[in-house]
Amino acid sequence: MDLFQLGSEDLRSLRANAPVHRDETTGLWLVSRYDDVRAVLADPRRFHPDNALTAVTAIPRPVLRVLARAGFSLPPTLANNGTDTHTDLRRLVARFLTPARVEAMRPRIAELARERLARVAGPVADLHPALARDLPAIVLMEVMGIERVDIPLLKAWSTASLELFWGNPALERQYELAAPTAEFHRWLTSRLRAARGDDDLFGALRDVPVREAAGLCYFLLIAGQETTTQLLSAVLDAVLRQGDLWSRLDEPGLAGRVVEEVLRRDPPVTTWRRIAAEPVTIAGVAVPAGAHLLLMLAGSGSDPAVFAEPERLCPVRPNARKHLAFGFGRHFCLGAGLARLEAEVVLREAFARFPNLRLASAQPPPMLGLLSFRAPLSVLVDPGEPAGTPAVQLV
Ligand code: HEM
Repeated sequence: MDLFQLGSEDLRSLRANAPVHRDETTGLWLVSRYDDVRAVLADPRRFHPDNALTAVTAIPRPVLRVLARAGFSLPPTLANNGTDTHTDLRRLVARFLTPARVEAMRPRIAELARERLARVAGPVADLHPALARDLPAIVLMEVMGIERVDIPLLKAWSTASLELFWGNPALERQYELAAPTAEFHRWLTSRLRAARGDDDLFGALRDVPVREAAGLCYFLLIAGQETTTQLLSAVLDAVLRQGDLWSRLDEPGLAGRVVEEVLRRDPPVTTWRRIAAEPVTIAGVAVPAGAHLLLMLAGSGSDPAVFAEPERLCPVRPNARKHLAFGFGRHFCLGAGLARLEAEVVLREAFARFPNLRLASAQPPPMLGLLSFRAPLSVLVDPGEPAGTPAVQLV
């Protein structure tokens, strides 16, 4: 089984035949049923998050030296922090993501989407670069109050980081990826050292030792936008493959419910990790202390014991929001509200601009295939005429 390319059939088979399965190649224990995944996430005493950001493919010493020269380290801060310092650090970041602050971003997200859609033209356009790629990064920087950011550079740094930590790169590729990863860390450290006031995230972290602050920002500036880029592509692709769903997107509340269903069935964060702090039994299987668990978030969202006809994208599903795409419990995603809002607004704006848009090809798209991240890398569409274009041009 290739953990980097798990499909829905693999997940179904795991849930049915081996709900707790030790993968020989990586040593990871795969947990795939909804109830088990949720129970692990809900129990921070017995399951620690320390391995959340550990490189899946070991980084050899010479490559580590490239990172070390930039002072790179990922001490426990948020997702990988099972200690008491988690609460205060989480509060510092949550201040920037209150429901009111997130909602206040709605018009700006719509404006960014409209600017991008105005540049989309046929006969074939790729909505991944055109709409999904940089919008979440711009939104994240604005919500965190961070100015003077080279967005294409931030995207290059963060995609390199994702591949280095969650991919399966060969040695030469690891060297290539370590350079932008180190550069990102250097930039964060210098911005944190220069920060004044507490209007922006960097300033708000001024009392946190710079090593911790840089580790926190490194995670947040990647997690807070790469995942949303992935969600935007996944939502656009899924809606366009589903009968007449696109043409119904102006029905009240439908766009938001569709986003929830995509999060359930095709979540961008497909897996997340924990460590068993003591010997435990999960689904009747004895798991030793110290075992590294791979929680199949994607598998849990398609568990037929919880979601009827799970492969069907069903916007009226009553329990769609029960999914675990944003985790659960103490580490529940701080950006869930922002990600949901971005996806809903972008979907609605795309429909408003191009009501007759359709996929340019029925072929499945190329997918990002990392241990914890999976999403279409392109969404090729025939946009059709923009709304408001007269059917007959009057001369
Ligand atoms: C579709 C988009 C997103 C998905 C699928 C996603 C998913 C996740 C998951 C699975 C976790 C781990 C939860 C756990 O361990 O129980 C997490 C944690 C986190 N996410 Fe997200 N995320 C998304 C977007 C965002 C955004 C937009 C932000 C910030 C603006 C963000 C910030 C965080 C933070 C700070 C944590 C760590 C929370 C903690 O440990 O206390 N995420 N996210």
